[in-house]
Amino acid sequence: MTIPYGRGSSRRGPVPGTESRPGQPSRLQRTRPGARHRVASGTALYTQDVPATVIVGAQWGDEGKGKIVDLLAQDSDIVCRYQGGPNAGHTIVVGDDTFKIRALPSGIVRGKPCVIGNGCVVDPEVLIGELDDFEQRGHSTSEVYLSGNAHLIMPWHLAIDQASERRLGKLAIGTTKRGIGPAYADKAMRLGIRVQDILDAKILRQKIEVALAEKNLWLERVYESEPFDLETVAAQYEGYAQRLRPYVTDTSLYVDNALRDGKHVLFEGAQATLLDLDHGTYPFVTSSNPVASSAATGVGIGPQRIDRVIGVAKAYVTRVGEGPFPSEIEGPDQETMRELGHEYGTVTGRSRRCGWLDLVALRYAVRVNGIDQLALTKLDVLSHFAELPVCVRYRLPGGEETRDFPAHQSDFHAARPVLETLPGWSEALDDCVSEEDLPDAARRYVDLVERELGVEVTLIGTGAERTSVLTRA
Ligand code: IMP
Ligand code: MG
Repeated sequence: MTIPYGRGSSRRGPVPGTESRPGQPSRLQRTRPGARHRVASGTALYTQDVPATVIVGAQWGDEGKGKIVDLLAQDSDIVCRYQGGPNAGHTIVVGDDTFKIRALPSGIVRGKPCVIGNGCVVDPEVLIGELDDFEQRGHSTSEVYLSGNAHLIMPWHLAIDQASERRLGKLAIGTTKRGIGPAYADKAMRLGIRVQDILDAKILRQKIEVALAEKNLWLERVYESEPFDLETVAAQYEGYAQRLRPYVTDTSLYVDNALRDGKHVLFEGAQATLLDLDHGTYPFVTSSNPVASSAATGVGIGPQRIDRVIGVAKAYVTRVGEGPFPSEIEGPDQETMRELGHEYGTVTGRSRRCGWLDLVALRYAVRVNGIDQLALTKLDVLSHFAELPVCVRYRLPGGEETRDFPAHQSDFHAARPVLETLPGWSEALDDCVSEEDLPDAARRYVDLVERELGVEVTLIGTGAERTSVLTRA
């Protein structure tokens, strides 16, 4: 059976967007007439010889990945999301405009072709809302490519996420309640509904019917919640389907062709290393794999295609939701940090827990992602502290100290931070245009990170604005 794809009117024949007819360039080539790669000023250094770059969160999320992607997207041809869904929230500030993005890759703000890969879960309502919003603000979405293999978040996923958190009570994970876990669980259960199912109204209805037969039982008998009505859900999703069909594409083929063509592709991680289903602080994690290697699976390219991994870490640490957090700040500095850094969730508005920079966790992130370079964001937030403790080791329950992240949860849960205190600086960083302009103490802070991790810090965030990033060669 051939899998139908929706872009274009025909459901048969070559995948729209990749066919090449004599005399007519393929859609991909039309994207950039005649050009191979456009090197813009400023960040060209970062994409020249590295066509495929993964941007990955090195902590518990909210490191400011969106802003780094936005910066590097200037010199890239395509930006892809490879996992997660609307649990993500990226904020990009452009002049007086603030873009809050949950489903689309951040590259949309730069007008770049954007891919939502097979590894993502898609809430059609959220995605359509964003597409409409961008269109209304004058940003075309004609180059948004949605993988047919991505899974759809269905209304019961949201209901189950909420009901199961409620039921867990004190043991709740503190999810974003966007249906992420239940949607990935259904994918693994082989009960999921995929984006490509929206291409055929009959198939879509059938799949909803099969899923509902089981989900309604769960909702009613286990969670004592309201069941969903088949006709209502089918009609609602058929409405979404009509809006989304034109975006459905064989994104694996699209990205692979682009890389073969010498294009520069960014893979934008959502959530982060310590929220990774396999490598994070399970069970207080998300249900996908944010780590860099997952970019290959989540888009459908070979792992050897990835040329570079940039980790994004805040100059301190935040975490939303429950779970252990060794370097969490005790005392009033926690609140000060939250206010100075505006540490409230983009998606849920929740207060983020704040901590001092944790080099043990960051060293682990360097390892499990293969981070080549680090972007250290929000250094400006630290300007207000006279002293800056940094966690350099963990003390384990037996008294033993380690520089390596504990492999077992009991050790991690009981780990206490061994802090080294660095002098702070009081100057604001607003006017810094190069590394030389940084106060000495700020430079020493960055040097310590490099020395401890053995990784270069090549980008430093000094403010919320798009331009407030120092590049270091
Ligand atoms: P879920 O991804 O909604 O299932 O939530 C699981 C855990 O991941 C919770 O602790 C969330 O707070 C956290 N989480 C999910 N997405 C993000 C994010 O984009 N930033 C920070 N934390 C996140
Ligand atoms: Mg976020």
